[in-house]
Amino acid sequence: NGGMVMKRLEDYVRSIPDFPEEGIIFRDITSVLQDADGLALAIDSMQKCLEEMDVDVIVGTESRGFIFGVPIAYNLHKPFVPVRKKGKLPCETISEEYDLEYGSSVIEMHKDSIKPGQKVAIVDDLIATGGTVEAAVKMVEKLGGEVVKIVFLMELAGLHGRDRLKGYQVESVIRYE
Ligand code: PRP
Ligand code: ADE
Repeated sequence: NGGMVMKRLEDYVRSIPDFPEEGIIFRDITSVLQDADGLALAIDSMQKCLEEMDVDVIVGTESRGFIFGVPIAYNLHKPFVPVRKKGKLPCETISEEYDLEYGSSVIEMHKDSIKPGQKVAIVDDLIATGGTVEAAVKMVEKLGGEVVKIVFLMELAGLHGRDRLKGYQVESVIRYE
């Protein structure tokens, strides 16, 4: 590349201290998305985690999980299933409550979105406490799906979200201590 230094994926992530509240370092992906090379590198790196894997469906969590989940599903020619925040899905749903730093929230999936026995990969931009994806795993399993892989762009390792996903194949592209 003519002596050019390739930017690494982590160079595209912007870190904002004290957002949305004091003490949190917010890992912003908009700076990744707004650069064509950053966007391609992010999707390619996450997709690589699914290489050679037998997967039937990609599940992504609202909303940042959609940004990465859909292009990966499209590239692999697999269907995409959204996990949405409560009250957004029009047909019959199952729901799961999960904890946030303060209080709790509810996410939902359409009951007919996963067929029993389907192999599912769950995709999200980031794992913090792991609560969001743990709730998604529970719903996929209630619908009879098998979670064969969970892929994140970023992992906040200090929050030990992985501990809530014991027994699952979890991969992240960028790890923050
Ligand atoms: C963020 C992020 C993950 C989740 C991680 O989503 O995109 O989905 O939080 O946190 P956890 O591991 O502690 O559950 P958020 O709920 O802020 O919604 P957004 O994607 O719509 O911004
Ligand atoms: N979601 C939960 N914690 C986050 C963080 N530190 N940066 C970006 N998104 C998050």
